[in-house]
Amino acid sequence: MKAVAFCGSARKNGNTAFLLNTVLERLEAQGIATELVELAGRDISGCKACYGCFKNKDNRCVFDSDIVNEAVARMVEADIILLGSPTYFAGISPEIKALIDRCGMVGRANGDLYKRKLGAAVVAVRRAGAIHVFDSLNHFFLIGQMIVVGSSYWNIGRGREKGEVAGDEEGILTMRTLGDNIAWLAEKIKG
Ligand SMILES: Cc1cc2nc3c(=O)[nH]c(=O)nc-3n(C[C@H](O)[C@H](O)[C@H](O)COP(=O)(O)O)c2cc1C
Repeated sequence: MKAVAFCGSARKNGNTAFLLNTVLERLEAQGIATELVELAGRDISGCKACYGCFKNKDNRCVFDSDIVNEAVARMVEADIILLGSPTYFAGISPEIKALIDRCGMVGRANGDLYKRKLGAAVVAVRRAGAIHVFDSLNHFFLIGQMIVVGSSYWNIGRGREKGEVAGDEEGILTMRTLGDNIAWLAEKIKG
């Protein structure tokens, strides 16, 4: 079993990465291989709406100059996909939006590439808007026939400066429980 987590923050090693790593630690502890991909500092731009992926049907985006085709390949090989975003003006970051639109379209163009994989969204927030971000991230999983795993609260951690989220006890507990629930379900469906 393998999990890949995409961190959509514009800054490296921030609160979103911390929350994702908290989930990944629980997966590792239960024998699941994990990988965190930070979009910060990587090239990624929005979907050009060319529909080339629907024409070619080769599991790839036509535009090959950024991280997207690498991300699609990582999603395809993983059993578990996590998407993390900070809250920016009550919405998702432009980086994770670009990833969702482009990897999502390639997935749909090729018969729902991520079908029946497990998915979960993780959100960092200073104060307000996180539920909208959580909902937006979950749209990626739910339109792609993925199975969304929940926790004891919505998967949100509060903090402003880098690392501040570590002080949100309930947020950290929510991430650990999420990791445990994903690992539990992964074991059940391993087959
Ligand atoms: C452009 C921008 C917009 C933001 N908008 C919001 C917001 O709408 N609500 C909020 O509570 N925090 C907002 N924040 C704060 C971040 O969500 C918060 O600092 C979060 O922990 C950042 O996660 P990161 O460390 O992974 O980047 C914003 C930050 C930035 C840079």
